[in-house]
Amino acid sequence: MSKEISIPIENLRIGHYVVGMDKNWLETPFMTHRFFIHRKDEIDALRASGVKFLTVDLSRSRLLHPEKKEQHPAQKEQADQQKSSDESNAPDWNSSERLEEVTIPEFEAASLLADTHVRLVHQYKKLFQSLKNGKDTPSASDVTFYKNALNEVARLGRSYPDALLFMAHLQSTDDETYIHSVNTMFLAIYMAITKNVPQEEVGIWGMCGLFHDMGKCSIPAMILHKKEPLTLGEWDIIKSHPSVGEEILKTWNGLPPIVAKVAGEHHVRKNGKGYPDQRLFITTDTITRAVMILDTFDALTADRSYRAGMPPPKALKLIAQMAQDSLDTQLVAQVIKAMGIYPIGSVLELGSGEVGVVIRHHIDQDNRNQQNFSLLMMKDENGAHLRKPVARKITWSPGAPPPVARTHNHSAWGIDWTQLREHLHLWTDARELPDPLSDPG
Ligand SMILES: [Fe+2]
Ligand SMILES: [Fe+2]
Repeated sequence: MSKEISIPIENLRIGHYVVGMDKNWLETPFMTHRFFIHRKDEIDALRASGVKFLTVDLSRSRLLHPEKKEQHPAQKEQADQQKSSDESNAPDWNSSERLEEVTIPEFEAASLLADTHVRLVHQYKKLFQSLKNGKDTPSASDVTFYKNALNEVARLGRSYPDALLFMAHLQSTDDETYIHSVNTMFLAIYMAITKNVPQEEVGIWGMCGLFHDMGKCSIPAMILHKKEPLTLGEWDIIKSHPSVGEEILKTWNGLPPIVAKVAGEHHVRKNGKGYPDQRLFITTDTITRAVMILDTFDALTADRSYRAGMPPPKALKLIAQMAQDSLDTQLVAQVIKAMGIYPIGSVLELGSGEVGVVIRHHIDQDNRNQQNFSLLMMKDENGAHLRKPVARKITWSPGAPPPVARTHNHSAWGIDWTQLREHLHLWTDARELPDPLSDPG
């Protein structure tokens, strides 16, 4: 049971689990709005952000050296609260102490990834707009922020890779440019983890995904968000964004050079019909080729102000066709294998007329061709919204009649991703669902 108390920042200690503060979390350096305090410098960062009071959950806190206090942590905290001005009650941490990694349950990882998605969109939007307004390039500490953020996403994603795919569907047409970049980043980290790239490179894959469209800050909003077809002159402006992005990113201290290179080459195509046209596909890196595919996947599936997004299974089919002459064939095959026939986030209508969202894949090690996935059921066979969504496991062996009658665009079907986030616990619980084929009923 949670035991939340409010404490002044002077009483915050390593091991406290923070669940609230007297300042907008987005204005602090923290990725999520609930977090453990691992080191003293995190307390300093909170203080520097202007935080004065915090809410901590004592039942989840893991205070270092609790045995030094002769009181139970809960009693100690309450005493601290009453005597916050008393120097003798000040935290006795020292700078070398550090809370070691805490194992994160899947539900928690998914929830923290959702927070991190929101945080990164907020931060990227600020960066994009300041560059648009001609402000300075980011400082080394800004670059460090992104590195830490991406390592955090990689850490959480490793414990629950499906969550990365789910979060990559979070969207809003208001912030489409920023959300597209963060979604591409989540997809890039998912692919890096799936491909088993060395741990230290996973964050670089994410960074390449996040900043691939940085050059769009130079494009006037009226062109970037134009609903009508673009003129040839406007297309020329759009086509400048890879080179502009590459030049911007080259000036950022501390950024791995591959990030600028990927931005410069992400619209190059195998058949030479991409841009900038002086670049050759054969000279592009694996990360660039992966970002090309994931960028296309997000662009096809996301809603835009002028059209609804394509269902993910259809987008993957189209990408498979594009692989012939535009994309890296081998990487496209890897992306399709990693995402499955019905990627996480696909809205599927079953033969019964019921509609659900794919929330989990189950890999059958003995029969990898078998498609096992869980749906979060959202509508009944009459098309009525379920008041209380439930998870259901679907098992299908290719060759048998497909269980899915059709795939849907999520916005046309009225699926609200914010609402789905509220049901993350069902999503993680789906791991335990019985196999319907083993149930004679
Ligand atoms: Fe682009
Ligand atoms: Fe893009």
